[in-house]
Amino acid sequence: MRTQVGIIGAGPAGLLLSRLLALQGIDSVVLENRSRDYVEARIRAGILEQHTVDTLSAVGLGDRLHREGLEHSGIYLQYPGTRHKLDFPELCGRTVWVYGQTEVVKDLIAAQLDGGPPLLFEVSDVQPEDVDTDSPRIRFTDADGNPQLLECDVIAGTDGFHGPSRTLVQESSRGRTWERTYPYAWLGILADAAPATDELIYAWHPEGFALYSMRSPKVSRLYLQVDPSEKIEDWSDERIWDALDTRFALDGWSVNRGPVTDKSILPMRSFVSAPMRRGRLFLAGDAAHIVPPTGAKGLNLAVADVTLLATALVRLLQEGRSDLVDAYSDTALRRVWRCTHFSWFMTSMLHRSGDDFDAQLQLSQLERVCSSEAAARELAENYTGLPIG
Ligand code: PHB
Repeated sequence: MRTQVGIIGAGPAGLLLSRLLALQGIDSVVLENRSRDYVEARIRAGILEQHTVDTLSAVGLGDRLHREGLEHSGIYLQYPGTRHKLDFPELCGRTVWVYGQTEVVKDLIAAQLDGGPPLLFEVSDVQPEDVDTDSPRIRFTDADGNPQLLECDVIAGTDGFHGPSRTLVQESSRGRTWERTYPYAWLGILADAAPATDELIYAWHPEGFALYSMRSPKVSRLYLQVDPSEKIEDWSDERIWDALDTRFALDGWSVNRGPVTDKSILPMRSFVSAPMRRGRLFLAGDAAHIVPPTGAKGLNLAVADVTLLATALVRLLQEGRSDLVDAYSDTALRRVWRCTHFSWFMTSMLHRSGDDFDAQLQLSQLERVCSSEAAARELAENYTGLPIG
């Protein structure tokens, strides 16, 4: 088998890259080790920045997003006694959209299978090879158990933190990583309950952070800060709703309860791997960086990476010019570090560490963001998404 760009991983990064390339006349093959059902069922992020919405629309995937997605004009920041709305259009002229990553992936897969480049599910033993040469290859076993070799001009590693691409890039002598593990985790639930709020609520509370999000007018997505050692079995639905009531408490307002359809505990960390390239292997998305979810940046960063990478690969493969691929890692990492800082900032401002000095600094910062237009604008610009490149 031969293709121009071999893409490892059918998450949003890999699928969107394949589509961006196809629209420019460049062929690719996408390899995914999970099944289609698995990929379309996993529950992930829910907030799309303006540029993400624009990019998806530009590649013909804006219809369902605009029909079923919810445009949001801000967020609430809450701390005891206060729930303050940051109005994004007023502060920075942009909005964000609530549309699950799961839905983005379903739309991308449907488009790919409808006449798009090949997308192979349930492959195994995927291994990029010869990435330091001009003819890299991907060895893998197909769903029927047959060994395969995919010859490529370039390989895109969009296979997440646990995939083989990141390891291969880091084995080269120039590789370096940075990491921060936070002493918090999020307990997340999905509930068949109408959201009791028009905008997301990020709440600081002495007992820990809570986030009120949603997926549709009938489905709420809610999170509680918990200790990373907590076991999900110890959290009955009743206990979760009671904790949410406590942390979101505001006079004359209450959380809407409903049947819980999903429940899980998510670790939180920051991770950056540089460079985002080794020879003809380019990393994008979670393969190169992980952010804690507090800033809603993970998916948007993946989209920004592949937007840059697609342009750079078109230039390389159609014009034979390597300037943009040579600049890719540095250009992408500048934005990665900005989003890493913003996600760390939101995480640090909102989670209880147990230290009372920290708590006073957090409350002081929250008051600042809620009273200074300059501080609010800084948050709004980062949350809604900074320019790409
Ligand atoms: C979500 O809806 O899953 C969500 C929203 C905002 C965040 C993180 C997660 O910051």
